[in-house]
Amino acid sequence: MTTHDITALRTHSASLEVEWSDGLFSRYPWIWLRDHAHDADTLHPVTQQRQLFTAGLPETLAPMAVALGVGDTGSGVGDVLIRWEHDDAPSVLPAAFLARYRHPRVARAGVEVTPVLWDAATLDGAPTVAFADVMASDEGIREWLGATSRFGFCLAVGTSATAEATEQLLRRIGYVRETIFGGMWEFTADLTKADTAYTDLELRPHTDGTYSHDAPGVQLLHYLEFVGTGGESTIVDAFAVAARLRSAHPDHYRTLSTVQVPGQYIGDGSHLLAARPVLRHDHTGTLVQVSFNNYDRAPFLLPEDEMLAFYAALRAFDQLVNDPEMQWRHVLAPGEAMLFDNWRVLHGRCAYTGLRRMCGGYVNREDVESRYRQLL
Ligand code: OGA
Ligand code: ZN
Repeated sequence: MTTHDITALRTHSASLEVEWSDGLFSRYPWIWLRDHAHDADTLHPVTQQRQLFTAGLPETLAPMAVALGVGDTGSGVGDVLIRWEHDDAPSVLPAAFLARYRHPRVARAGVEVTPVLWDAATLDGAPTVAFADVMASDEGIREWLGATSRFGFCLAVGTSATAEATEQLLRRIGYVRETIFGGMWEFTADLTKADTAYTDLELRPHTDGTYSHDAPGVQLLHYLEFVGTGGESTIVDAFAVAARLRSAHPDHYRTLSTVQVPGQYIGDGSHLLAARPVLRHDHTGTLVQVSFNNYDRAPFLLPEDEMLAFYAALRAFDQLVNDPEMQWRHVLAPGEAMLFDNWRVLHGRCAYTGLRRMCGGYVNREDVESRYRQLL
């Protein structure tokens, strides 16, 4: 949908200047306009893939005629129509398409959602949706993914306490990721995998997959059965922790943003190893991923001052994430399937006694984004 109309066009030697109805001027280089033309020979109408051999275009590209469409040329009213000097191919640039690039800026991947940072005092209960709504409609899944994007987690309540229902729920988002744990997994404290999760010990807040170059995007955890004591689950908004750390200890923040920390998984026929900073920023300086798992950290040694700075920063970060003021704590009951953003929040659980059967699975980051992007 066009939210802005084009009111005037001005040609320059290397670019076209567009004046918008709100008074903004945008500049589009001629080569960019040719590269992004919407005719079928340039952009395949079905695959949306570029058919143009961009590098084969003349180095200096010049327009012969530029006009605003009037609706009788196969283009919409107000679209930009260009004829080129080097060939006679007419290019159509829809106004709605140009409007998306009114402000030049560096490309970013990901769905741009503004996270709502929270701590124990500001979180007004856990975000929840009904299992039935998620299963029934796009609106339900949009709510579930929307809340998970904003808060980092959201419970789907009313889920039958079966592995099948849990899997159905996860498949509403995307296909289940296969890892060393399988696709959907189910576990009790039996150490069938070489991981503390498969014990009844405390699991301090962590992210999963620090040993993977592409840590799981989201995780769904669902207790199918729990007869015992303890086992309270914790969720911590690590973006909120990072914000606190940044204002209180900018030096620690810098350390955790720059030191490459290796994570590893050894066992079950695997030796996985990956490394990235605890706080990973994209090329625009935006925090995009938190990776923190003290259990899985692999040995590394830096020069003394850097090594000591790392341990000081780790201590400060760990103190914050284990401060109950930063935590949402809850004994999850069967029926409460918890989806969380494994790039944003840390999860953990207290030690427990008794029988506890849990199932869950992962979906890749890009697949969650793909699903959500199409619902927006
Ligand atoms: C895990 C995990 C939490 C729990 O499996 O990665 O953190 O409650 N489990 O068992
Ligand atoms: Zn975990």
